[in-house]
Amino acid sequence: MAESKEYKIPRHVAIIMDGNGRWAKKRFLPRKAGHVQGSRVAEQICEDAYDLGIEYLTYYAFSTENWARPQDEVDALMNLLRKYMKDSIERSSRNNMRVRVIGDISALAPDLQESIRKLEEVSASNTGLKFQVAINYGGRDEILRAVRKAAEKVKEGELKPEDINEEIFYGFFDTAGIPYPDLMIRTSGEMRTSNFLPWQLAYSEFYFTDVLWPDFNKKELKKALDYYNGRERRFGGV
Ligand code: IPE
Ligand code: IPE
Ligand code: MG
Repeated sequence: MAESKEYKIPRHVAIIMDGNGRWAKKRFLPRKAGHVQGSRVAEQICEDAYDLGIEYLTYYAFSTENWARPQDEVDALMNLLRKYMKDSIERSSRNNMRVRVIGDISALAPDLQESIRKLEEVSASNTGLKFQVAINYGGRDEILRAVRKAAEKVKEGELKPEDINEEIFYGFFDTAGIPYPDLMIRTSGEMRTSNFLPWQLAYSEFYFTDVLWPDFNKKELKKALDYYNGRERRFGGV
C-alpha cells in the first residue's frame, strides 16, 4: 500500500521476537549466536520504529516460561540482557528514549535488577521513544500480581471492591499508564501469543510473519504497518 495522507502509524507496537534459535540452527551455529544477532536487530528496530513515528514499542525478551530452557541458554540470555541494559543507560541519553522493564524482576540476579533500576531512573524524563522490555514477563503472572495489589488495597480499606473498574484495575499492571498496543507482531511463523500481554492485546491487530527475528528489518516492519493499514478496527461497532 502506498503511503498516503491517511496512512496510520500505530501508536503502540508490541513485538514477540521469535526464531533466534532456528536462525542459528540454519547456520550450524549455537542458539546463543541467534540471540546475539537478535539483540542487534532489537536495537536497530528501536531506532527504525521511532523514525517511522511509533511512540511506544514493547519487546518480549524473556518469558516466565523461558526458565525451562537449558541452563546454559538461560545464562546466555541473562548475560545478553545484562549487556543490553548496561549499554542502554548510555544509549538512552543519546537517543532520548524512555525505558521501562515489565515483568517480575525480583527473580533476576541482583546486579541485573540494579542496572534496570538505574536505566529506568536515568531515562525517566526522556521524551523520545517509550520503550518497554518484558523480562521474566508472563501475562497471567502480571494479572495475578495486579489482583494481589488490588486485594491489598481493599484489605487496607483504600479501595472498595465495587469501585474496581477497568481503568483502576489497569493501574496495578506493569504497563499502567501505557496505552494498549494497536499492533502485535510475531516473527518466525508461530501463531500464538505465548502469554504476552493477554489483557492489553485484547483488541490489538495481529501480524504474523515467517521471517525469523534475526532477519527482521525496517522493510519488514513497514510491511507490518501496511498490513495494519489494511485492517478496519471496529471495536465491536459496525
Ligand atoms: C526468541 O527466539 C528469543 C527468546 C525466546 C528469548 P527463540 O530462542 O525462541 O528461537 P526459536 O523459537 O527456538 O527459533
Ligand atoms: C516467546 O517465545 C517468548 C519470547 C519471545 C521472549 P517462545 O519461543 O518462548 O514461545 P513458545 O515456547 O514457542 O510458545
Ligand atoms: Mg521460540
